[in-house]
Amino acid sequence: MILNTKTYDFMISHQKMKNMTTLLLIFSVFTLLSLPTITEADYLVHYCPNTTTFTPNSTFQSNLNRLLSTLSSNANRSTGFYNATVQTTNNAVYGLFLCRGDVAGTQACETCVATAISEAPQRCPVEKQVVIGYDDCMLRYSNELFFSTATESPRLYMSNNKNATDPTRFNQVLAASMNEVATEAANDADKFATNQANVSGLISVYSLGQCTQDLSEADCNRCLRLAIAQLPNCCNGKLGGRVLFPSCHVRYEVYPFYAQNSTSAPEPAPGPLPPLPPPPKGEVTISSIQI
Ligand SMILES: *[C@@H]1O[C@H](CO)[C@@H](O)[C@H](O)[C@H]1NC(C)=O
Ligand SMILES: *[C@@H]1O[C@H](CO)[C@@H](O)[C@H](O)[C@H]1NC(C)=O
Ligand SMILES: *[C@@H]1O[C@H](CO)[C@@H](O)[C@H](O)[C@H]1NC(C)=O
Ligand SMILES: *[C@@H]1O[C@H](CO)[C@@H](O)[C@H](O)[C@H]1NC(C)=O
Ligand SMILES: *[C@@H]1O[C@H](CO)[C@@H](O)[C@H](O)[C@H]1NC(C)=O
Ligand SMILES: *[C@@H]1O[C@H](CO)[C@@H](O)[C@H](O)[C@H]1NC(C)=O
Repeated sequence: MILNTKTYDFMISHQKMKNMTTLLLIFSVFTLLSLPTITEADYLVHYCPNTTTFTPNSTFQSNLNRLLSTLSSNANRSTGFYNATVQTTNNAVYGLFLCRGDVAGTQACETCVATAISEAPQRCPVEKQVVIGYDDCMLRYSNELFFSTATESPRLYMSNNKNATDPTRFNQVLAASMNEVATEAANDADKFATNQANVSGLISVYSLGQCTQDLSEADCNRCLRLAIAQLPNCCNGKLGGRVLFPSCHVRYEVYPFYAQNSTSAPEPAPGPLPPLPPPPKGEVTISSIQI
């Protein structure tokens, strides 16, 4: 993939640096993104506080293994989403995966979920509560029931460092586009929507919003609007930005970063899908995480 063409920097929200969990997370992300290796799926972030852990080879571990195996065998679902529960006396584990809507039901989704399932136990070997995110999918599991509840932290912010030439116009078009995405995604059966909007004759903004499919329309809508409300802080006037929560995420770019098909905005001409262009050379993505 394109991991090795990107350079990452980190800005840490100092008022939130109040515990070791934050330090650990930042360290892990920094270390992992610094590796020159190219992974099968484009890794973004993981979060697993060491305050809730299990004993290796315990009942929890075997339940978790069963959960991951169930999730794995459902990665080929056309919805790109599955939630599962493995429950024995005093030991429950709840989990789900979500693929980005445009790769749901494709090999890219299956590959990403398989990568997440094999890497999560490596990055979080004894932690009971784990969220791991990639470009194409996310995996989450916990000993606590979290289905049907919007979780809005921890938060990952990413932005392109390039500025729009006309930020006022750009922000207006982006806000309108994101507004449509939130409404459409919340209403969508798979809780996913994209939107392409014209900034100038030459520049379009491509927006995406998605919730985990266990959320209600109202909770999805609220989650997406909260994520969109962070964009002025993380990404004001920038040519690309993302806000990722465990339960929903939004992203925009000035190039089509998602596969365009019949479910997205009308295309000028039908035909084979063009390959996704990589981000412009020299782009720097700034990331920050808020616990
Ligand atoms: C959690 O991580 C912190 C920071 O590395 C460490 O000091 C602490 O001992 C860890 N706690 C457990 C239960 O492993
Ligand atoms: C867990 O089980 C595996 C295989 O049964 C064994 O190799 C390993 O030593 C066990 N680990 C612990 C901590 O008991
Ligand atoms: C999905 O994968 C499972 C297990 O890997 C398999 O049993 C099932 O037939 C597959 N379904 C489809 C539609 O390919
Ligand atoms: C999936 O989540 C829904 C709630 O959104 C819940 O009702 C259902 O039982 C869960 N399914 C499994 C297999 O855990
Ligand atoms: C973008 O604008 C900000 C604030 O005006 C400025 O600090 C930054 O250097 C600009 N970035 C680029 C790549 O021009
Ligand atoms: C895009 O927006 C620009 C500036 O508002 C306008 O001049 C142009 O006609 C628009 N193009 C399309 C295809 O709508």
